[in-house]
Amino acid sequence: MTGAPATGEAARPRRGEQLEVEIDSLAFGGRGIARTDGFVVFVAGALPGDRVRAEITKAKRRFAEARAVELLRPGADRVADVCVHEGEPCPGAPWQGLPYERQLACKSEQADEALRRLGELEGYELEEIEPAAERWRYRNKLEYSFGERDGEPLLGFHARGRWDLIVGVEDCHLASEPGNTARNRVRDWAREETVPAYDRRAREGILRNLVVREGWRTGQIQTRLVTSPARFPKPPVDLHTVIEGDSGGTDGPTGVLGAERLREELCGLRLEMSHGAFFQTNTEMAERLYAVAAEYAGLSGAERVFDLYCGIGTIGLTMARRAGEVWGLELVGEAIADAERNAEANGIGNARFLAGSARTGVRPLLERAGKPDVVVLDPPRAGLSQKIVRRVIECEAKRIVYVSCNPTTLAPNAAQLTEAGYRLRRVRPVDMFPQTPHIECVALLEKAAPGRGSGTPSISDSVASHETRGGGV
Ligand SMILES: C[S@@+](CC[C@H](N)C(=O)[O-])C[C@H]1O[C@@H](n2cnc3c(N)ncnc32)[C@H](O)[C@@H]1O
Repeated sequence: MTGAPATGEAARPRRGEQLEVEIDSLAFGGRGIARTDGFVVFVAGALPGDRVRAEITKAKRRFAEARAVELLRPGADRVADVCVHEGEPCPGAPWQGLPYERQLACKSEQADEALRRLGELEGYELEEIEPAAERWRYRNKLEYSFGERDGEPLLGFHARGRWDLIVGVEDCHLASEPGNTARNRVRDWAREETVPAYDRRAREGILRNLVVREGWRTGQIQTRLVTSPARFPKPPVDLHTVIEGDSGGTDGPTGVLGAERLREELCGLRLEMSHGAFFQTNTEMAERLYAVAAEYAGLSGAERVFDLYCGIGTIGLTMARRAGEVWGLELVGEAIADAERNAEANGIGNARFLAGSARTGVRPLLERAGKPDVVVLDPPRAGLSQKIVRRVIECEAKRIVYVSCNPTTLAPNAAQLTEAGYRLRRVRPVDMFPQTPHIECVALLEKAAPGRGSGTPSISDSVASHETRGGGV
């Protein structure tokens, strides 16, 4: 590292300072790591082997955070960027310079390291990562921001590490071609009608965000414009959300101008989703992910399955035909309404969905449904709180299938479950997000049978014990 003043304490870089550093490895979350005399700098936008000029964004006693502002010498393994907007590498594809095989290896290693180091877990089988079906143009949802340059609206992404600077996007290689066309049409409308972008610094203007969602299998494109409250010519979008104040969010009262719900097909099911409901952003890989979850669930046709954090019911509905009954629990009421509609539209009569939080909803669910054989968990990145882990333990399921988008929260949760008598058996990473550091994996935990010591029942043992339980909810 060069450019730091003097030595010792004074050598600590300060916010805004620029340094030349060499990257030696990758951290969780995907930033490059540079080291010097016990001091670590996490550099966004830099990959192993790169020499970069980095601007410090945060300085602590033993480490600093920075963003790469200039690539001085690319690492030997770097591959050429595919997705570039106005000369800036796409902020949605921070690992595009890493060869794909290397991305996969890093994700597997990081998942394993999190489980071993953070969870102190061992004895599980880390299965080979499932590579992505498509390395580009795989996202079915992208959120863009409006900005302005020379008085003209721009529509694109925030530049890396900048909340106040937008880079315009013409063709994002994470989106499909029709998705790009839909975005550009809204940008052209804004230019023709001279509707100003919202300026967060001045707190004035109108256009804030555009969310483009796509039914991968149906070809439907759904656009949602997010604006400040204002009068302006009718926009060419399906949905219009109005946001008061300066929250920076995109959720608010929403009016319908076109198609209200997005239609998609997945695992042979016809699905509909509301704009506020979660749906996996890579349709092809969601099918693979759910296939792994179903394999781990080891269903024989008789089991009671709890699908906690069920969204629009996708995992439970894909398992319902192989289970006795499925019960879904989800916080967002709109998603539960979608799940019920989806069950009916697909003729699935053994699935019920309840709106409620995992924290307070599991006990009432247990009272209503009885104890499950299998619990499927698919929480947001923060994972399960201690209290929710306790509720899951109270379910006394033989198997827990944990679908995780963050191994650093999966690890402590799996460790808490092992303390309660489960064994972590299998873990399979599935690459849902190529060109990014995001790691998705499915983990199987099985309960040790009482009196069998550390041994666990095989799947066939536990299935046999439930063969007499009938279906129907
Ligand atoms: C990662 S998504 C999974 C959704 C679904 N399993 C799927 O694959 O589409 C997590 C879901 O948990 C829901 N959620 C967040 N916090 C929750 C809570 N405390 N209780 C229940 N659901 C919650 C979110 O609304 C979201 O639908």
